[in-house]
Amino acid sequence: MTSEYLAMQSLVQRLGNDHRWHLGDMGWSYHSITGAAEGRRIKVWEDGGEVVAFAWLDLPGHVDLLVDPARPEYAAEALAWSDTEAREGKRTATALETETHLIAAFEAAGYRETDAPFFTHHHHDLAHIDEPVLPQGFRVRHVERDEVEARAGVHRGSWSDLAPSRVTAESYAAVMNAWPYAPEFDWVVETDGGEMVASSLGWFDEVNRTGLLEPVGCVPAYRRMGLSRACNLAVLKAFRDAGAVEARVCPRGDDGYPIPGKLYRAIGFVPGARTRTYARP
Ligand SMILES: CC(C)(COP(=O)(O)OP(=O)(O)OC[C@H]1O[C@@H](n2cnc3c(N)ncnc32)[C@H](O)[C@@H]1OP(=O)(O)O)[C@@H](O)C(=O)NCCC(=O)NCCS
Repeated sequence: MTSEYLAMQSLVQRLGNDHRWHLGDMGWSYHSITGAAEGRRIKVWEDGGEVVAFAWLDLPGHVDLLVDPARPEYAAEALAWSDTEAREGKRTATALETETHLIAAFEAAGYRETDAPFFTHHHHDLAHIDEPVLPQGFRVRHVERDEVEARAGVHRGSWSDLAPSRVTAESYAAVMNAWPYAPEFDWVVETDGGEMVASSLGWFDEVNRTGLLEPVGCVPAYRRMGLSRACNLAVLKAFRDAGAVEARVCPRGDDGYPIPGKLYRAIGFVPGARTRTYARP
């Protein structure tokens, strides 16, 4: 784990639950594709020994920011930095709609809102969790650290409908080594024969007492049997046992990819704030 990663995570955790990121989005996005670092640029700003902002630029020109709302001036600085690093062409930037200091900075820098696909944060109060129920012939359990090959395999099998997944055993091992990954929150459904067929990776932020599901999947031949429902519910129970009071998941909210949102709402998640994407020609 790099010091850059840990610095970003310190800000994600310090700013609590009302922003775009969770420790788990960062853990997954930063580590799950081997070599992805070559296609991005990251800068972290500190003041008085504390991280106050970061910018994550995916080349050629998409930027995601996290800026302490108490230090909104860093949003303009981060956008200006992204201009120096981005390649020629259009710039885009995304924020959660409640991050009004970021949206104000986008607009001041000439960005305008687009109708790009968006993600809707969904929340689950862990005071009540439905009981996980599986069809006969399946069981749900968390993985062990030495199962990286099979664990990466069920992810790839679930996420290759549109294009082959870039997650490999090597990249999944990097995820498993990334703070705060813990196998106790990484669950799978397996058949009687021991084949993993559905999975749900949970990430627990013990300071903010919030768990995140990222990512979730079921291989095509076993879909619509209630396996993902049961797997997710098992992770929610693990979060609660560890002291979490709320769980979050962030599926697409637009009509272009509606099924995950239906799954999460079917198990008790409630939609909240959405992301908004801005562009500058
Ligand atoms: C989304 C996904 C994980 C669902 O897995 P699954 O094991 O088939 O889901 P379940 O059988 O547990 O479904 C539970 C509920 O979710 C909803 N649901 C799931 N698939 C659905 C579909 N194709 N159409 C409509 N509703 C659906 C239903 O409410 C369903 O309950 P029901 O079958 O009693 O109506 C699976 O389609 C998948 O792996 N997709 C590709 C990866 C992905 O997009 N992951 C989520 C990203 S956030």
